[in-house]
Amino acid sequence: MKIWKVAVIGARGRMGSEAVRAINLAEDMDLVAALGRGDSLQELVEAGAEVVVDLSVPEASYSNVSFAIEAGMHAVVGTTGWQEDQLAQLQEALSQHPGVGVLIAPNFALGSLLASRFAAQAAKFFESVEIIELHHPNKLDAPSGTASYTAQKIAQARAQAGMGASPDATVSDPDGARGAKIEGINVHAVRLRGLTAHQEVLLGDAGQQLTIRHDSFDRTSFMPGLLMGVRKVADHPGLTVGLENYLDLD
Ligand SMILES: NC(=O)c1ccc[n+]([C@@H]2O[C@H](COP(=O)([O-])OP(=O)(O)OC[C@H]3O[C@@H](n4cnc5c(N)ncnc54)[C@H](OP(=O)(O)O)[C@@H]3O)[C@@H](O)[C@H]2O)c1
Repeated sequence: MKIWKVAVIGARGRMGSEAVRAINLAEDMDLVAALGRGDSLQELVEAGAEVVVDLSVPEASYSNVSFAIEAGMHAVVGTTGWQEDQLAQLQEALSQHPGVGVLIAPNFALGSLLASRFAAQAAKFFESVEIIELHHPNKLDAPSGTASYTAQKIAQARAQAGMGASPDATVSDPDGARGAKIEGINVHAVRLRGLTAHQEVLLGDAGQQLTIRHDSFDRTSFMPGLLMGVRKVADHPGLTVGLENYLDLD
């Protein structure tokens, strides 16, 4: 059995400490370095890391991943907030290191990726579709990145099927009760104490409704996807954005 030598950057953070726990429990992984703010990236080289997991902050993630690429290490990145120009620069750096794989995965929750996919598949069979995302009240942004992503995928599927907007006779909505519109799809954001991260896609047609719901109850929900990323990144040289591209869903 191949034993992956894995390093975590941001190892003392909420996600990073969960990743350290999961990697330590994985029989096919050896945690060789656990870095935090202020630690030298040179430790990655000294530890002989093959895969670097970055769970830090947007300001640091780009330089962490660039370092890994230059050192010939694969990278699995959960840190969110990547800009298009940074992704283009990564592509450029990777072209000089053809054997290296980088996975940028804004969402490691396999159930959530599947829910978005199933919603997009179902969308063309229902006249109406709306999204409700529900999160803890400490979340700073709305709607969630996952809800925006799901809305985009649904909108693409409906456009390809030649469908128009969901029916809606609303003519007055001074307080925005109908929610945000992402690519024409209504998205509603709920912030409630006690929740973690949840999403419902409501699909409606004459006499029937399909609801596709995913719930993340805690950060362990991200770990099977993260470990899958570590195991598969070397088989996907170059840049991959989105863990769904490793799931072989087609
Ligand atoms: N992909 C997914 O499925 C997923 C799921 C949840 C969250 N996330 C993302 O994962 C990232 C981490 O989230 P979190 O909740 O774990 O945040 P967090 O608890 O704030 O952890 C971030 C960690 O990064 C460390 N850090 C800051 N600057 C650094 C640097 N220059 N080099 C190395 N480490 C540095 C911080 O150290 P200090 O404590 O010293 O500041 C902290 O320990 C965020 O971008 C979040 O959006 C992704």
